[in-house]
Amino acid sequence: MRQQRVLTGITTTGTPHLGNYVGAIRPAIEASREPDVQCFYFLADLHSLIKNQDPELLRRSTREIAATWLACGLDTSRAVFYRQSDIPEITELSWLLSCMTAKGLMNRAHAYKAAVQSNQEAGQDDDFGITMGLYGYPVLMAADILMFGADRVPVGRDQIQHVEMARDIAQRFNHHYGDHLVLPTAVVDDEVAVLAGLDGRKMSKSYGNTIPLFLPEKQLQKHVNRIKTNLQEPGEPKNPDESTVFQVWQAFANPGQREEMRREFAAGIAWGEAKRRLFELLNEQLREPRAHYEELMAQPALIERLLQEGAERARSYSRPLLARLREAVGLRRVDA
Ligand code: TRP
Repeated sequence: MRQQRVLTGITTTGTPHLGNYVGAIRPAIEASREPDVQCFYFLADLHSLIKNQDPELLRRSTREIAATWLACGLDTSRAVFYRQSDIPEITELSWLLSCMTAKGLMNRAHAYKAAVQSNQEAGQDDDFGITMGLYGYPVLMAADILMFGADRVPVGRDQIQHVEMARDIAQRFNHHYGDHLVLPTAVVDDEVAVLAGLDGRKMSKSYGNTIPLFLPEKQLQKHVNRIKTNLQEPGEPKNPDESTVFQVWQAFANPGQREEMRREFAAGIAWGEAKRRLFELLNEQLREPRAHYEELMAQPALIERLLQEGAERARSYSRPLLARLREAVGLRRVDA
């Protein structure tokens, strides 16, 4: 039997933070160590063009994110790790799928609807600032997924709809042209923590409340000290389940350490002390990958080589499938 294929994309915008690590990078790397799966992880740089139109920023972000995954221990001899724009078959497939995608389906995409709504609220034209890239985003994402016959697509909740759209599009394609595409399923892992940020809301670049993953030690400490707490005094029992400090602790601690910190909270640990311990815990776990990250960032040619090798492996899957699909839709030689 064919191995289960797991695939996910990482949009190359911004600098990875602790929330990305806990919510996406760490579980994906763990999954890639399981014996019976073939993982495809890629840098979604074509998707990032929708929002990021600064060429130098795009390049830097791609380099940082690639280095982050490698530094966190992704083994590229197991997982196929590549850059979306290195796989021309994806963009070609995206067109074939566009011609099988109802415009009405795209009208219902959350990201597009949110953009229209915020235009309406601002008294703007519905289409203000909306590109075809944003509108067709789910089709490109469907191509990413269907190109590699992914069975499972681990994503955050906000992306479930896109995976379901990929499934709809694949069904329509298969119905019309024959059974060529694997129908994917979104997987959302409830065990995976959604990390809170400095202000207690979900850690997210758009809220400006993140702790970047590979900050120098001193900076890391400063950020941890900025985590918002209430005004309870040392000695007052504190509720761990309402504390961002505890929430972040929990995402990095082992079960014994979690229990111990719960007891410390009940015993009234001072916020300053709790933060000091949190910093120690984070620093201990991040020290090694941070050093590895810095080494990699100093050798962009090595990162590039790994990405090129990943692209070659990825294309050994994408080329034959695209050839088959071209044949299926009738893009054929005229003399055959
Ligand atoms: N849209 C995803 C995000 O913003 C990234 C992405 C692009 C993706 N292509 C994908 C995720 C294919 C899973 C599968 O997070």
